[in-house]
Amino acid sequence: MGFDEGKGCLKREPSASARTVGASLKALPQVADTPGYTLAQPRIGDGPPRPTAYTGAMSKLSEDIAHLRKSYERAELDESQSQSAPLQQFDQWMTEALAAQVPEPNAMTLATVGPQGRPSTRIVLVKGYDERGLVWYTNYDSRKGRELADNAFAALQFHWVELERVVRVEGRVEKVSAEESDAYYRSRPLDSRLGAWASPQSQVISSRAVLVANAAKAAAQHGLNPDRPPHWGGYRLVPEQWEFWQGRKSRLHDRLSYRLQDGAWLRERLAP
Ligand SMILES: Cc1cc2nc3c(=O)[nH]c(=O)nc-3n(C[C@H](O)[C@H](O)[C@H](O)COP(=O)(O)O)c2cc1C
Repeated sequence: MGFDEGKGCLKREPSASARTVGASLKALPQVADTPGYTLAQPRIGDGPPRPTAYTGAMSKLSEDIAHLRKSYERAELDESQSQSAPLQQFDQWMTEALAAQVPEPNAMTLATVGPQGRPSTRIVLVKGYDERGLVWYTNYDSRKGRELADNAFAALQFHWVELERVVRVEGRVEKVSAEESDAYYRSRPLDSRLGAWASPQSQVISSRAVLVANAAKAAAQHGLNPDRPPHWGGYRLVPEQWEFWQGRKSRLHDRLSYRLQDGAWLRERLAP
């Protein structure tokens, strides 16, 4: 076993049981068909030594956090009241989130998977949704952009804390058309349009001054009507699975899952 510096992942000779699992994993299309996917994945408990030794002492803060509890009692999610199509259910909940004036109702966590099968998350803003999927805009050369170029499967999650609601969406990601990205880019304030030129998103920069200088350079170069940078645009997640979670009393939460079966949405209740 050793740490493969080139790949940044722990490599080990497969044990007999790992070989068996590996063999059966290979038969699963979602694993074998993912380009760049490697089976050199750690199990729980594997891994290099931790940077600091665990002393067993729990801080006061940790204890306080462990005792934080909230009872969820605001609403219910019932089969008889929910929509039969997940997009309509999402539309209804988004409408209610807007009406309730929750902070940043269109903020969602986007999870992608890197080349070594390592997940990463960040928050992005949904800028549109319809039968085709959910759209956000970003830098195509960013970490998320590079991860999506290698593996188009992604997951999204909204957490509307005040409404005690979560929506999860999973599916395959595609780029929106250049026309769609152009139209959205043109609708942005000028400083945001210039910012898309100024920020090499996710790259290491030596200081904040670099950004400020880049922004001034972009303003001088592109003026008041900048074109959309080729490295900036929209992605659309095409949903294959949705889940709507409504917090309930005594941890007996409501969870309705929708998955595609023979081209139709199948709604199922999941245990909380
Ligand atoms: C509320 C909120 C909204 C954000 N919206 C976006 C967005 O729409 N697009 C985007 O590229 N980054 C957005 N960000 C920044 C991202 O979370 C992230 O820092 C950035 O996209 C770089 O991620 P990456 O290095 O994983 O690619 C947002 C951050 C917050 C806190």
